[in-house]
Amino acid sequence: MTSPPPDYDGIARAYRWLEYLTLGPLLQRTRTAHLSRLRTTRQALILGDGDGRFTAALLGANPAIQVEAVDASAAMLRLLHSRCLHNPRLLTVQTDARTFNPTCTPDLVGTHFFLDCLTQPEVDSLVARLTPTLAPDARWLVSDFQIPAGFMNLPARIYIRLLYLAFRLLTGTIPTSLPNHALALERAGFSLIAEQQYLFGILTSQLWQHE
Ligand SMILES: C[S@@+](CC[C@H](N)C(=O)[O-])C[C@H]1O[C@@H](n2cnc3c(N)ncnc32)[C@H](O)[C@@H]1O
Repeated sequence: MTSPPPDYDGIARAYRWLEYLTLGPLLQRTRTAHLSRLRTTRQALILGDGDGRFTAALLGANPAIQVEAVDASAAMLRLLHSRCLHNPRLLTVQTDARTFNPTCTPDLVGTHFFLDCLTQPEVDSLVARLTPTLAPDARWLVSDFQIPAGFMNLPARIYIRLLYLAFRLLTGTIPTSLPNHALALERAGFSLIAEQQYLFGILTSQLWQHE
């Protein structure tokens, strides 16, 4: 049986400030690292969109794009709408992204700090299920935490363990380890075409292209 999605309603308002207090501008830099490559994108599907800081930037950078934003949290979607000034090119859906079927044919999927809310089997099944519904030239943009090799390996493990613990306490269910989204995307026919890392490799922004 599928577990309920984590509950972000209680921390939706504080989310942005918690982020700034802990990592300053780094997460937003990670989300928007590839924004300049998205100016010709026609239809985006943003899963686990949160308070809409990436979506607002995307709508601003690309005047023709239509965005379908999915999140389980009503409070996050309210913040997203007001941040995007109720843009008519934005459609929001409050539902569980793990079972959601897009109402459009996206040529971009965006998952910023969302896949780490899922288990490995959930990421595998999400990517396998969504890929046939995407445009043939679709790209998938992923921002996430990762555990780098080298001297930052142990500090990153400890940091991410503490982060998961904090989010488990604040939002309820959340998996215990980072899923490997690269495996799922490669299996579905995506190739990594660009990557930008921050914070000694603990933060990654990756653009994947379907072939
Ligand atoms: C860590 S926050 C990231 C939010 C945003 N994408 C960002 O970059 O800050 C995770 C978001 O995913 C949403 N979420 C988590 N699991 C979900 C699910 N199964 N279905 C839909 N939304 C989900 C939460 O409500 C929350 O807004």
